[in-house]
Amino acid sequence: ASTLGASAAQSGRYYGAAIAAGKLGDATYTGILTREFNAVTPENEMKWDATEPSQGRYTFTNGDRILNQGLSNGSKVRGHALLWHAQQPGWAQSLSGSALRSAAINHVTQVATHYQGKIYAWDVVNEAFADGGSGARRDSTLQRTGNDWIEAAFRAARAADPNAKLCYNDYNTDGVNAKSTGVYTMVKDFKARGVPIDCVGFQSHLGTGIPGDYQANLQRFADLGVDVQITELDVAQGGNQAGIYASVTRACMAVSRCTGITVWGIRDSDSWRTGENPLLFDNSGNKKAAYTSVLTAL
Ligand code: XIL
Repeated sequence: ASTLGASAAQSGRYYGAAIAAGKLGDATYTGILTREFNAVTPENEMKWDATEPSQGRYTFTNGDRILNQGLSNGSKVRGHALLWHAQQPGWAQSLSGSALRSAAINHVTQVATHYQGKIYAWDVVNEAFADGGSGARRDSTLQRTGNDWIEAAFRAARAADPNAKLCYNDYNTDGVNAKSTGVYTMVKDFKARGVPIDCVGFQSHLGTGIPGDYQANLQRFADLGVDVQITELDVAQGGNQAGIYASVTRACMAVSRCTGITVWGIRDSDSWRTGENPLLFDNSGNKKAAYTSVLTAL
């Protein structure tokens, strides 16, 4: 096939992009989006600060724009992200303890209910593990409400939207290391105790290298009985960008439970990694060498 989405679909997978509601009026941007991609993730529009700017008052306008763009194009929509230590509204940042716990679980319920039946997979919890060698949870106000906050969030999400796949999502978990093993241990425990979890997202914000055990890491999670997805892929330009994109693609293709790949933006100029040119299309919307290497590997 001649596009990323159609090529991924040949093996039952999707190829998606993170998109911004404010760019949907850009014809070059939307042209590439509708031609190439069969999944979308809101880059910011479904985060806590965007959806519940004051407590109990919800704003879904921009999230709905992303949703409708995706659905009208026949794409899967990944929901991102119900709970995260970053991009919280100010009112939530000032809460702690049981007030924060109940506000957080209510947030999960309300947002997942609004989008019920429309979302392919939700990042229920984002980036809850610490960097470095501890393999432990990240310290955060949410973590301080009790170690069970993650499973409480997954149970609330399942109750609100029984058909969405529920994912845990994180970065620097792309190879076998202390952080990814911490996540692995949590997922194994959740599966053993019946906590509803369906998938693990690997952000894959990569520099000029890729862990040699990238595929093996995806496979060990898949072997726990969850799907795996590459959720926020971007790769610094300057090293072998095309080769790293190809390696990520081949790893997903080699893992039967790797259901799809999402790149974190469309053109280099759309990227949050300013100056790193980490995406598949240049500032003018032309295909880069990395694009061709992905298409070939799908
Ligand atoms: C980033 C967005 O791309 C930026 O526009 C925003 O200013 C900050 O967040 N991990 C995630 C994403 O899970 O939500 C982040 O997105 C990038 C890192």
